[in-house]
Amino acid sequence: MTSSSQPVDASGKRITTNAHLISWVAEMSALTKPERIVWCDGSEEEKQRLTAEAVEQNILEPLNPEKLPGCYLHRSNPNDVARVENLTFICTPTKEEAGPTNNWMAPTDAYAKVGTLFDGSMKGRTMYVVPYIMGPKGSKMSKVGVELTDSIYVVLNQRIMTRMGAVALDMLGSSNDFNRGLHSVLDCNPDRRYICHFPQDNTIWSIGSGYGGNVLLGKKCLALRIGSYLGKKEGWLAEHMLILGVESPEGEMTYVAAAFPSACGKTNFAMMIPPKRFKGWKIWTVGDDIAWMRVGTDGRLYAVNPENGYFGVAPGTSYESNPNAMKTVMKDTIFTNVARTPDGDVWWEGKDGPIPAEVTDWKGNPWTPQSTEKAAHPNSRFTAPAKNNPWLSKFSDDPDGVPISAIILGGRRATTVPLVMQAFNWLNGVFFGATLGSETTAAATGKVGIVRRDPFAMLPFCGYNMGEYFQHWLAMQSQITNPPKIFLVNWFRKSKDGKFLWPGFGENMRVLKWIVDRARLRVGGQETVFGWVPKAGDLDLSGLDISHEQVDEATHIDLDEWETEVQSYGEFFDSLGPAMPRALKLHRELLLARIEAVKGGHG
Ligand code: GTP
Ligand code: SPV
Ligand code: MN
Repeated sequence: MTSSSQPVDASGKRITTNAHLISWVAEMSALTKPERIVWCDGSEEEKQRLTAEAVEQNILEPLNPEKLPGCYLHRSNPNDVARVENLTFICTPTKEEAGPTNNWMAPTDAYAKVGTLFDGSMKGRTMYVVPYIMGPKGSKMSKVGVELTDSIYVVLNQRIMTRMGAVALDMLGSSNDFNRGLHSVLDCNPDRRYICHFPQDNTIWSIGSGYGGNVLLGKKCLALRIGSYLGKKEGWLAEHMLILGVESPEGEMTYVAAAFPSACGKTNFAMMIPPKRFKGWKIWTVGDDIAWMRVGTDGRLYAVNPENGYFGVAPGTSYESNPNAMKTVMKDTIFTNVARTPDGDVWWEGKDGPIPAEVTDWKGNPWTPQSTEKAAHPNSRFTAPAKNNPWLSKFSDDPDGVPISAIILGGRRATTVPLVMQAFNWLNGVFFGATLGSETTAAATGKVGIVRRDPFAMLPFCGYNMGEYFQHWLAMQSQITNPPKIFLVNWFRKSKDGKFLWPGFGENMRVLKWIVDRARLRVGGQETVFGWVPKAGDLDLSGLDISHEQVDEATHIDLDEWETEVQSYGEFFDSLGPAMPRALKLHRELLLARIEAVKGGHG
């Protein structure tokens, strides 16, 4: 321990000589005035020491060591349970650079305003220096970040979510090229909560929250908001996408990346276990939330997962829906805002087995099945190491990434959008992405269940002007000479009586199989006005216990509904202002004209 900014570990050994890092830490500690500074090396000894401290301070609660070895429960402040989009800012020199979908502050104003809050924010507290890599060690695609935080919970989560400690300092060497992240929980008051991004400075300042996406700065802040800005500048893509490998019984591997908005099924899809009918098929997880993609020398798109763990939604996770996730969270996992059973197990709505007679709810209060409130918060989460996943791809650490054959886009839509549809071409696929709609979920504060446009599932995460982001996607076509095919899916369509039409989860393998076969040009498709859909009989439904009528309803395209849908894109496109690419606007016009023509019949 040391109260100076000298970079030594617990044993007093110097762990870096990087002058840029050392002087920045000195500068930030002069601002925040911590009582002491701890440089994290990522060691096992450090983990144990910090865990013990967190337990002592009631930040972590040990769980049953027989049932859940190495697992802990954290209860957050009840006002701090999700991302706060209204308090998240992109701080670029001009408002136009941030664009109409982001909150904006001028960098000088943001540094001044939030700097006042940081002034002395760590008084009497410890500042942890957390160096980390986003991406595989030694990959050209990877980026180094350093997060300064006064939250032990953040340190222990970062240790799971990233490649943290000495490994990152080694990769950084003497370079000045690292993301500078500053975080302080302060008094966890929403009135003093700001998540500010300075893309030009490769800097993030986050204050007043302790919740995942607001404070694990490598994740949404660096890997997506700053990442997307760097991707545009450097010619690559930072996307809110899972990455998985599909292995056929013959051993043929096909990689796909899929963008679904927050709490819309990425973790589940990335960890899917195929149903019995698909004997010999295997799904390997590369990533469950974020993909960084670059064009390889063969003109294909290669993806790496910048993360090293899963920050997954707990409610709904069960041995029935996602057995793989259940196995992944059995050890060395931090649970946040779930319920706790009397014997120190965890519980949440949708977990297997009978509903327990009594638990302690996420706020720490007694709960019984008669209680009117939920036992676990709807956005309660697990933080689990990727290496716990029994189906982790052996290429998840590959510095070159995996070649992507299909990109899937999907939202949570009760109506209109069919189970699956393939874009005719790149423009059509980018149009699917640009117009993606989804009902809001508990992953962000605000009303749940409202359909909003969430282009490429990136509305809360695009670090620059959305119109320019679409333009970047369109322009990438010239580089990607061997492009992935692009698909739109919807697992969440509902019947008139409000029930999901499609069983989802493992059964999504049936849709994925068609996607793989289309990407490999070995199955036909039926052309519609909007894209290719499976021909009758091409979706393998054998062994599936639902009626043909139900499948028809899930896959149906209703021209009237689609006319309303495509018309509604107009207002959204207009709201994106002058940066909105003309090609997408014209594509919308053409679609409307085609709907009109088809509806007009032969008269
Ligand atoms: P973030 O971590 O917020 O980015 O979420 P995510 O996209 O990884 O979503 P996740 O897989 O955690 O799923 C969120 C919720 O959707 C969970 O409650 C799941 O049970 C539910 N869900 C996931 N897949 C399906 C599906 O195929 N059908 C239905 N009906 N629900 C699903
Ligand atoms: C999401 O909200 O999309 C998440 C959780 O993956 S968070 O890390 O909080 O953003
Ligand atoms: Mn996410």
